Amino acid sequence: MVIIFILIVVIAVIFTSLAICAAIHQDEDDIFDPSSFTVIQNFRGSFQMPNQVFTEELTTNSSNKSQTLATELGAKLSDLYKTSSALGRYFINAEIRAFRNGSVIADYKLTFHMPEEEKDPLRNFTLSREMVYNVFRQFLYDQESESDPMFIDPASLKMVLGN
Ligand SMILES: *[C@@H]1O[C@H](CO)[C@@H](O)[C@H](O)[C@H]1NC(C)=O
Ligand SMILES: *[C@@H]1O[C@H](CO)[C@@H](O)[C@H](O)[C@H]1NC(C)=O
Ligand SMILES: *[C@@H]1O[C@H](CO)[C@@H](O)[C@H](O)[C@H]1NC(C)=O
Ligand SMILES: *[C@@H]1O[C@H](CO)[C@@H](O)[C@H](O)[C@H]1NC(C)=O
Repeated sequence: MVIIFILIVVIAVIFTSLAICAAIHQDEDDIFDPSSFTVIQNFRGSFQMPNQVFTEELTTNSSNKSQTLATELGAKLSDLYKTSSALGRYFINAEIRAFRNGSVIADYKLTFHMPEEEKDPLRNFTLSREMVYNVFRQFLYDQESESDPMFIDPASLKMVLGN
């Protein structure tokens, strides 16, 4: 009887501590306050879309073709960084800035923000050019079809830290 009671207590203690650990872990992951993210980090670069045909229209911001393509690409880049478990919370915006001839080359800008007190380690690791670049490149290697009009050539991806 005593042994069974002790066993039950031990099991109860184990489950309680597991539950507490899970709750604490979840809190650390979920609670962050974006209003404290005051430091901005930008990246700029370009990529090539070999299945798009370049026309003069693409160099005019106000044209339908340029706006449609820019909106679609901007959404694609935003989705890819928003859903990244490492980078999602720091991501603000992806912007397509221009199109150039070569089938079509798109110039983009990415904006991230981070808390002042964590800026040094974040800049060295999570928000380093290598990390932000690799998340993008992995996404490009995962594209399903090379014949899709929206296909982006992974080998063409360029990125630098910039403002
Ligand atoms: C784009 O570049 C190609 C190859 O250099 C050229 O043949 C074509 O005329 C250019 N297109 C435009 C719209 O400038
Ligand atoms: C832009 O596209 C919309 C809808 O596709 C169309 O109604 C409009 O006439 C187009 N405008 C130009 C300048 O081509
Ligand atoms: C075109 O877009 C660029 C980059 O966003 C901007 O600097 C420029 O003012 C825009 N030009 C026009 C005519 O809207
Ligand atoms: C970040 O990198 C710089 C230069 O490589 C180094 O001096 C600094 O100590 C690093 N900081 C952290 C927090 O890793």
